[in-house]
Order: sequence, then C-alpha cells, then structure tokens
Amino acid sequence: MAKRRGTAACAMLLLLLSSVTFQSREGEALCSNWGTRSTHPLPANIVVQLLKDNGFDKVKLFEADPFALQALGRSNIQVMVGIPNEMLAPLAASVRAAEQWVLHNVSTYISKNGVDIRYVAVGNEPFLKTYMGMFQQTTFLALQNIQAALIKAGLGRQVKVTIPLNADVYQSSNGLPSSGDFRPDIHDLMLSIVGFLRDNGSPLTINIYPFLSLYADPHFPVDYAFFNGAANPLVDGPITYTNVFDANYDTLIWALERNGFSDISVIIGEIGWPTDGDPNANVDNARRFNQGLFDRIAKRMGTPKRPTPPDIYVFALIDEDAKSVQPGNFERHWGVFYYDGSVKYPLVLADGRSLVPAKGVRYMEPQWCVMAPEASLTDPQLGGSVEYACGYADCTSLGRGSSCGDLDARGNVSYAFNQFYQTADQQKGACAFGNLSVITRSDPSLATCRFEIMIDVGRHDKSVNSSADASAVGVRGVAAGVAAAAAVTLVMWSSS
Ligand SMILES: *[C@@H]1O[C@H](CO)[C@@H](O)[C@H](O)[C@H]1NC(C)=O
Ligand SMILES: *[C@@H]1O[C@H](CO)[C@@H](O)[C@H](O)[C@H]1NC(C)=O
Ligand SMILES: *[C@@H]1O[C@H](CO)[C@@H](O)[C@H](O)[C@H]1NC(C)=O
Ligand SMILES: *[C@@H]1O[C@H](CO)[C@@H](O)[C@H](O)[C@H]1NC(C)=O
Repeated sequence: MAKRRGTAACAMLLLLLSSVTFQSREGEALCSNWGTRSTHPLPANIVVQLLKDNGFDKVKLFEADPFALQALGRSNIQVMVGIPNEMLAPLAASVRAAEQWVLHNVSTYISKNGVDIRYVAVGNEPFLKTYMGMFQQTTFLALQNIQAALIKAGLGRQVKVTIPLNADVYQSSNGLPSSGDFRPDIHDLMLSIVGFLRDNGSPLTINIYPFLSLYADPHFPVDYAFFNGAANPLVDGPITYTNVFDANYDTLIWALERNGFSDISVIIGEIGWPTDGDPNANVDNARRFNQGLFDRIAKRMGTPKRPTPPDIYVFALIDEDAKSVQPGNFERHWGVFYYDGSVKYPLVLADGRSLVPAKGVRYMEPQWCVMAPEASLTDPQLGGSVEYACGYADCTSLGRGSSCGDLDARGNVSYAFNQFYQTADQQKGACAFGNLSVITRSDPSLATCRFEIMIDVGRHDKSVNSSADASAVGVRGVAAGVAAAAAVTLVMWSSS
C-alpha cells in the first residue's frame, strides 16, 4: 500500500493547490518533529497545512495524539508515531497490551483515517544517562511486543519499529570517531536491539544535539557546532572533521561497524537549535545552524564515513510553552516557527523557496496586561505576584541573554503579568494583581522581545477541531520534556 506519488500526481497537486504547496523531490525528504506540549496549541489542521506548505513530507509525533493523527489522514505526509517512556513497562509486560496499543493507535488510523504511518517509535531516549537505567529492563521487550503486534495486525511490512536514542548511547574512548563503541553499561543490550532492528528491516534512530554539546561545555569551540565553521578541525586518520555533527554521527557508524552492523540504516530523530532561553540560543545561531542543516538535506549530503544521507527530523516545527524546563530554559524554544506558526527567521529551502507561515490562525484580542504606571517597584506584593505569574506561565524569555533579558525592572514585571494573562485566556481576573496591573491596548513589545497574544483555541474549537485542550500549563506532563536533557558526552573536537 501507499505507493510513491508519481510525478503526474505531483504536477496535478501543484495545479490544484496554490503555488506555495509543493512536493519535494524524490529522496530529499524534509522531516520534522511535531510536539504538542503547548498551552494553546495550533489547531492540528493548520499544522498539517503548515507542513505541506513548507514541503515537509515526514513527521514524527511523540505520542499517538488523536487530533494530530486525524489531521494527517490523506495528507501525503508519512508519520512516525511515538510511544512515551511511561508506557514501556505495560507494553513490555504483555503482548496483549501491545496488540491493543497497535490496534487503537496504528491500525485504526491507517484503515479509517488514511494516515500513512511508517514507523512506531518505541520510547523516547529511554537509555538517557539521566534516567539511570529506569527503562533498561522494559524497552527491548516493549519493542519486541510492538513488532509482534504489528505483524499480527498485518502491518509488518508497512510499519517499522525503531527506538529514538540519544547520542549518549555511544562514545569514543579517545574522542575520535574511529574509536566509537556503545556505552559499556548498555553495550550488550544495544547489540541485541540493533540486531533485532536489522532482522526486521528497521532503522536505528539517533538524536544528535550540537547545541547541547555547546551548552554543556563552556570550552566547546562554538564554530565546531555549526556546519560552516572551519576552526578546530578534528583529524581522524584520513578524515578531517569540521563539525561535531559529522564526527558524532560517524562515531555511531564506527560503533555499528565494530559490532558487525555496518549495513543498518540510521535516522536522525531529532536535531535543531533553540532561539531563546540561553545566550547561545538565539535567532542568529538557530538560523546559521538550521540553514546549514537544510542545505545538507537539499544536497543529500552524508558524512565522511557514510555518504548515504539519513532522513533527518528537524526538532522542532513549533515552540511548545508547556514543556518541562528541566533541561534548560531553551527547551520551550526549539521551533523553526513560533508557537503560532509564524516565521522566526528566514530559511532558504531547496529550490530557493523560503519558509511560509501558518495560515488562518485566530488570536485572542489585541490587549496586554502590564504593570500599572502608578504601581511602585517597591510594592511588597510585587515579588510574589511575579513569582506566581511565572510559576503558571512561561517566562523563559526573561533570563540573561534571552530575548527579553534586557527589559528594565518594570518591563520584567509587565512581561510576567502578560504571560499569565494570555496563558489564562485573557480571562477577567487574570490581570488583577492587586493594584499592580492594568490592561493596555498598545503593544508593549520591543524589537527583540515579543509580548505575545495566545491563539484563541476556543474560537478554533467552534469551527474546526483543535489539536488539544488548552487547560493549565504543565498538565500535559513532562515525558517529552526531559528528552533533550541529554548532555552529549562525546567531546569530539581538538583543543589545539
Ligand atoms: C493507544 O492505545 C491504548 C490501548 O491499548 C490506549 O490506552 C492509549 O490511550 C492509546 N493512545 C495513546 C496516545 O497511546
Ligand atoms: C528581570 O528578570 C530576570 C529574570 O527573573 C532577572 O534575571 C533580571 O535581573 C530582571 N531584571 C531587572 C532589571 O529587574
Ligand atoms: C488599591 O489601591 C487603593 C487606593 O490606593 C487601596 O485603597 C487598595 O487597598 C489597594 N488594593 C490593593 C489590593 O492593594
Ligand atoms: C470534530 O471531532 C468530532 C469527534 O472526534 C467529530 O465527530 C467531528 O466531526 C469533528 N468536526 C470537524 C469539523 O472536523
């Protein structure tokens, strides 16, 4: 089923839809992660159109979100559906549970909704060192049970299993890619998993984060995190590495080869650069990194050790203001687009096209909650009010080196109040911090610091089905949030 689209169909689609809708050429797949941990998520149908308008033909979901899956039906977009780590134990314990999961979250969407599901991602970075082995007993069993369930459902050919793993599952004793091997504590487990994946024609999925290498190590040479840097090359035998991505990826390829798996295909499950919440997380760096990444994808570039390019899933499509900030304040700012699908920075895609924003987004009223002009900075209520507002809403743009880090003290308070007010749907009473706050109709935004207005989820709900409920911040859990907590431990650059 799901034969590749022919060029005739492609031309037809171009004629039928507007000129900005297009199909990317065979081979140069554009893939993205779509996370839904937002207080005011963009409606799923708008996200799917955003994906199409920008030529994304593959998408990865962190869970079998019903709204996302329904909207992806008959979209021509291939889907990887994730299983959160919390579900690994029950799925490992029972084949029956795995069969039920596949029935409800895969089979039904394929047959009833026409969703082109290609992969099930079992767990999300389950062997991350920070989990301290919590999922090591269950992941492989869950993988096997899901595989068996897919076969039983008659989907063994069409839908492949994989496990998105962090790059910390492999390492190099001397920092050179050619010494790559799997981490000792999971070495045998990795060999069993990789063998199982290969035997089932499934790929290995790895998340690689040059940003986190830089974040974790103040001595990391900044240039080496990007694709167009020349400083600090790493010489490994006949190969000279000029960026950490190539070196990191090739460490994996060496680890696979060392253990007899040089033929297994690899997917990059997550890679990207955040735009806020840390001095290195800014629009210029994100643009530099992602432009380099998109250029590689368009040119079908592989690495020195493996010239065949992997599918690369950009992390992420849109910002998520309800993600856990445990990995860092940048965690809510990985999107190539803002929370509302607006363009953060221009990116040139294949064929010279530019990113296009989401269409048909409805916002709440253009009004903001700010610190009252007559209120005093010495008011004893002030500290507690700001703390309360930021405990509930997202204030990660306020830190040093972040987009709103240069606000003065009053600006800070206003920003916090506004975030609370917008997150609480501009409800009456959400801008009532004693006498300290007031509603304004004039936009307090500065050049780099946006005072946002949230998506009007209610209005979208009345017309189209939105992708999730818009209740309080944080209720959606932290499962995906911890994912990027990874400190990539490979130190693959030369300090000379
Ligand atoms: C998937 O299917 C199971 C049934 O086994 C169900 O309990 C679960 O909530 C479904 N949805 C997701 C997102 O996993
Ligand atoms: C604004 O808030 C941030 C984060 O809470 C803080 O680090 C900074 O010092 C504040 N700036 C001023 C001028 O109060
Ligand atoms: C607000 O200001 C008025 C007048 O200055 C004062 O009487 C009242 O107590 C204040 N309310 C609060 C909640 O601070
Ligand atoms: C919204 O979702 C409900 C329940 O899933 C469905 O019955 C209804 O047809 C949907 N409406 C639209 C406009 O898609």
